[in-house]
Amino acid sequence: MTNDTLTITDNRTGRTYELPISYETINAMDLRQIKVNDDDFGMMSYDPGFKNTASTKSTITYIDGGKGILRYRGYPIEQLAEQSNFLEVAYLILFGELPNQTQYDDWEYRILHRTFVHENIKKLMQSFRYDAHPMSMFISTVAAMSTFYPESRDITDEATRMKQIIRLIAKVPTVAAFSYRNLRGLPYVYPDNDLSYSGNFLSMLDKMTEVNYEPNPVLERALDVLFILHADHEQNCGTATMRVIGSSHSDPYSAMAGAAGALFGPLHGGANEAVLRMLTEIGDVKNVPEFMEGVKNRERLLMGFGHRVYKNYDPRARIIKMIADQVFEVTGPNPMLDIALELERIALEDEFFVSRNLYPNVDFYSGIIYQAMGFPVAMFPVLFAIPRTVGWLAQWVELLNDSTQKIARPRQIYLGEGERDFVPMGER
Ligand code: SDX
Repeated sequence: MTNDTLTITDNRTGRTYELPISYETINAMDLRQIKVNDDDFGMMSYDPGFKNTASTKSTITYIDGGKGILRYRGYPIEQLAEQSNFLEVAYLILFGELPNQTQYDDWEYRILHRTFVHENIKKLMQSFRYDAHPMSMFISTVAAMSTFYPESRDITDEATRMKQIIRLIAKVPTVAAFSYRNLRGLPYVYPDNDLSYSGNFLSMLDKMTEVNYEPNPVLERALDVLFILHADHEQNCGTATMRVIGSSHSDPYSAMAGAAGALFGPLHGGANEAVLRMLTEIGDVKNVPEFMEGVKNRERLLMGFGHRVYKNYDPRARIIKMIADQVFEVTGPNPMLDIALELERIALEDEFFVSRNLYPNVDFYSGIIYQAMGFPVAMFPVLFAIPRTVGWLAQWVELLNDSTQKIARPRQIYLGEGERDFVPMGER
């Protein structure tokens, strides 16, 4: 008997089974041999929400939830946030290595010169109501982009895949900015390819009558670092959705629209919007104790707290908190910060939260910065989706290149009715 096995005894039959262990996991299909009768289907595992199920092997992002560690391709998020920029990190996540200067210059040029969208995409976006939620516009428009690039359905061709990857990374800021201008009732601003990735985004958001928009360098850098922090996060809900849709060999635009739809949920990337609505509802630091009692009585969740993986402080939240100070020097303080800090102070010492490992996650402070920068709350999930486009696409490529992957099709435990005969209407 080798050490790297699990011996299971089925007490219903007295039979024992030896299952191989690799990477601290057993292969779920090895359970199927465990039966009472030979014609049984065999044993399955049951894991709603996939709390303890690995769906893939990956080399992209590493998280240690207990220690609050996050690394892209082995590089600590703290070092990337301090020393890199978003397009360089995008290259790292997609290709696995930091680019040299030639590779970076070529990559940056290719992204910054594909920022325009087809005029009909602009017309499509202008057909939405004046108060359409920008994240819903983003999701719809990304799906519609598959109609402009039908060749994207050939997901087996590497060059075609790369062309769509460049298009999506380059164009999501444009789509996001157009959705913002729609919300504001302002004319759409076209990309300025002389600006940086984040600078161009700010230009498409804020440019009015000036001939050339000059982004505030502090805000431009803060946004770029926020994009770095949100770029990937291994098998989160949105990325798992990207992989599930990608596993059917759908095109990347359709897959990414699904992933963005998952991200939109308030339990996921929509939490940053929910945090600001929560802070606004609390309204004043003096109301925090009463609010926290409501959370402890299970009347509501403390949005921006808790995480499926982090049972320690989300390292991204720590960095975002530092960025906040730099942004507020430019924009002026956000009164919501005082309420957020008081919520955190109580949560970090109160048994209800400490016993459940509820720490601030990436969404808790990001919204406060976005609001201070002038973004309406409804834009917050869109600001998450822009950088997460890189992670979704890198994970999608990894899925397609993994020969062990098959179409995602979970099983179920059926607890419904047994067979019964149809009852004609007159006899019901
Ligand atoms: C993101 O997965 C990722 O990587 C996501 C993300 C990424 O980069 O892609 O990091 C981005 O989505 C961050 C999370 C943003 N969501 C929120 O801030 C929403 C509020 N948080 C919760 O909904 C919750 O913490 C989740 C969804 C984030 C995690 O939920 P889990 O892992 O399923 O944990 P759980 O619901 O089983 O909670 C365990 C206990 C429960 O109490 P008991 O029933 O055991 O007594 O903690 C409680 C929960 O009720 N709890 C909370 C809480 N989160 C969990 N109680 C109050 N407020 C909360 N926020």
